Formats: sequence, C-alpha cells, structure tokens
Amino acid sequence: MAKTAELIIDGKTYKLPIIEGTEHEVAIDIGNLRDESGVVTLDLGYKNTGATKSAITFLDGDKGILRYRGYAIEELAANSNFLEVAYLLVFGELPTDEQYKKFTDDIKLHTMVHEDTRKILDGFPSSAHPMGVLASMFCAQTAFYPESLDPNRSSEATYLSIVRSLAKMPTFAAWAYKNAVGHPVNYPDNSLDYCSRFMKMLYALPAEQYQPDPVVADALDKLLILHADHEQNCSTSTVRIVGSSKASIYSSISAGINALWGPLHGGANQEVILMLEQIKKDGGDTDKWIAKAKDKNSGFRLMGFGHRVYKNFDPRAKIIKKAADDVLKKLGVNDPVLDIAMKLEEVALRDSYFIERKLYPNVDFYSGIIYRALGIPVDMFTVMFAMGRLPGWIAQWKELRENKEPIGRPRQIYTGQNLRPYVPIKKR
Ligand code: SDX
Repeated sequence: MAKTAELIIDGKTYKLPIIEGTEHEVAIDIGNLRDESGVVTLDLGYKNTGATKSAITFLDGDKGILRYRGYAIEELAANSNFLEVAYLLVFGELPTDEQYKKFTDDIKLHTMVHEDTRKILDGFPSSAHPMGVLASMFCAQTAFYPESLDPNRSSEATYLSIVRSLAKMPTFAAWAYKNAVGHPVNYPDNSLDYCSRFMKMLYALPAEQYQPDPVVADALDKLLILHADHEQNCSTSTVRIVGSSKASIYSSISAGINALWGPLHGGANQEVILMLEQIKKDGGDTDKWIAKAKDKNSGFRLMGFGHRVYKNFDPRAKIIKKAADDVLKKLGVNDPVLDIAMKLEEVALRDSYFIERKLYPNVDFYSGIIYRALGIPVDMFTVMFAMGRLPGWIAQWKELRENKEPIGRPRQIYTGQNLRPYVPIKKR
C-alpha cells in the first residue's frame, strides 16, 4: 500500500504521495499540490526541498557518508583515479580495462582547443579572475561545436561533448592562469597523465624542461576525486536548471562555473587561505578570530566551516586533512597556516556556538593548504574545484536529459504592490 501524507488546508484534506529512495530517504511528492489546492510551498534556499530523483551521488549529512554510484568516497580516494571516477559518475559503472583505455584515449585526442580560443583569452586583461575566464571559454565552445546546441542530437554527439569537456578543462584552466600572470600559454603534452599534463601546462615556461612531480600529480588527482560530485549543491542545481531548458552542455557547465565562484560555495577555498593568512599576519590569535566568527556584528565567518547538509563531519575534509599533512611532509613544506587551521578546528569544535550550530570543517577548509603546497596560486583554487566538479556536473546534466525532466520553473509568493492606476509624470 503506497504511503501518503495528509495536508489539511481550510478544513479540506489533501492526500500527497510519499516516495522513498534506495537509501530510505523519504519525500512528500507535491507535484499536484497547486492543481488540487491552489496552494504552493515556500522553502528559501531549498533547505527542505528535493529538486529531482538522482542515482548518481548519495550523502548522509548526519553520518558523514558520501558515495558516488554506491562506492564510498574513502575507497575511491584510496584506490581509484580521477578519470576512472569521472567514468563511474557519468556512465554509472566502473569501467573495464578496455572501456577505461578507450575513455582516456578519447580524452587525449581532444585536449587541444580551437586556436581561435586564444583570441577570446587575449581579450581578457591579466587582472581577470581565472573563474571568469574559465566560464567564458567553456561557453565559447558552443561557437566551435554548434552541433552541441542540440543536446538531444545523438548519444554519440553527447559522448563527444562529454569527452571534449573533460579533455579541454585542464587546458582552459591552465590558460586562464597563464593569462593572469602574463605568460605564454602551453599546449597539452599527451604523453603525460591527466594531472601531470595540467601541471605542465600550468607551470612550464618556454624552453624549460618541466618534469612533473608524481607526488604533486597524485595529491591533485585525489583532490579532484574528492570534489567530483556532491548531489544537488548550488552549482550542480544551476547546471541542472540551465540544462532543463535544453541548453547545451557547454553553456550549462559555464553557468555551473559561475555559481561555484561565489565565496559561500566553491569560492570558499580561496577565502580560507586569505582568512588564515590574515590570522597569521594578525599574530595567530585563534581565540580572537573564533570570537569574531561568533559575533554577528563582525561580518566575519570562519570560512571553510559549516555545511548545508553535513551536520556531523564532512568526510572529504577528514581525507583532505590527512592528505595535507602527508603532502606537506613529502614535499618538505612547512606551512604555518596549516598549524593555524588545525588550531582553529580544535578550538571551534570545543566551542558551544559551533557545536550547537553543528559547524564543522568542510571540503574547503584544508584543500587550499594542499593547493598552496602544490604551488597553485590562490586565484586558481576555485578553478581547481571546478576541474574536480566537472564530471559531477556532466553526470547530473546527462541524467536530467535522459530522464526527460521538465524545464525548471519554481513558483513564488508575491509580496509587492496590489493593483494601482498609472499616474502621468506631471501628476506624481
Ligand atoms: C561548499 O552544498 C554543497 O554540497 C556544497 C559543497 C559541494 O561540494 O558542492 O560541499 C561545497 O560549498 C562547502 C561550503 C563552503 N562555504 C564556506 O565554507 C563558507 C562558510 N560557511 C557558511 O557560510 C555556511 O556554513 C554555509 C553557506 C556553508 C551553509 O549555510 P546555511 O546552511 O545556509 O547555514 P546558515 O548560513 O543559515 O548558518 C546557520 C547558522 C547561522 O547562525 P544563526 O543565525 O543560527 O545564529 O550558523 C552560522 C550562521 O551565522 N554559521 C556560521 C558559519 N556558517 C554558518 N557562523 C560562523 N562561521 C561560519 N562559517
């Protein structure tokens, strides 16, 4: 017997179907509520509202669980690699040897970008933030691949767009950085693995024999895995709603890049390092800054702390915290802000303000410390997040299209003026 919820409005009872997911999450399906009752629901920030049914990522905020297609993030981070995880997220299963070789070979075939993209890049001043450059270059791919404007063209065309997106993202990211520092761009070296290829494009200078560091490439690969998807977060929801209008994959991803840029979302990893540097410069008094974070009038938040869903711990933060320690030791880097970060975490997790509000370190709290140890500049931190999140955006966009979901169009409650007559300017 299907379960239902009962809603009583002005004495009339409405029965609403209850649906249950494979991990026993329960939702009230209000799909027909307005037609039956004339009433809509209101949920600012969608804190209690499911936008879709998805088979890609499961997370449990209370238990600190994160799984991609049923595989625990801890296992994937320890045993897999980013392109294998990308394949899993997008196509739903871990690839066989043969599938993995074809996927990675196809990606190698498309790492170059149309040379006219350089004209777009050259149009940006060096002061341009790499995230804005990245979003623009991604959207510009609709110009070079106009067939992508029909997302339902064919499964082969969709596969090609997916491969092109994953292949070109590191090239765009490295070019955005080179534009910021005024260096000539590098072209992809397909003899290298995904992360080493990116590092070489990011760092190599003309006529320099750049040798990628496997420790750096391995740490970066693990970080990309940890960022690869996170169910219906702000930027993924943006990709889905743009994709729901049948916009191309490139414009949908470009919209996701812009949503990720905000300091409350992916932009937090850059803000964390700037915050830690500020605390270090101020003498490292963590108690003083914890007090500021608790003071509503200070306008200061402990960046990298708190999460809409995780109310116990962010499993990614745990993995990254350990990786930060390992990588800095392996690279022989002594970064005092790591000590400040650990002290902040220790003090905050003992403080009732943070405990009552269930505020714990999130994915952004330690990731910037690793990026910095890898030599990646602060302005590029959110670009790294975008590189990691790309397979998740692609998988969610693809799922939306395959499920033929309707165009997203939320309702509202109007709170403006009631009907009033127009008054000519002379009489106002
Ligand atoms: C990401 O959704 C995802 O999955 C996102 C993400 C992903 O992988 O896609 O995990 C990536 O975006 C991680 C979050 C990165 N952002 C930050 O680190 C910025 C700092 N954190 C916050 O601004 C905040 O915690 C959010 C945005 C992450 C969550 O915001 P919510 O759920 O809307 O919570 P809220 O802003 O309503 O805060 C609840 C209370 C408030 O206090 P009260 O009004 O109840 O007294 O907690 C306080 C807030 O003032 N609070 C903080 C705080 N975060 C929340 N106080 C101090 N420092 C903080 N960081």
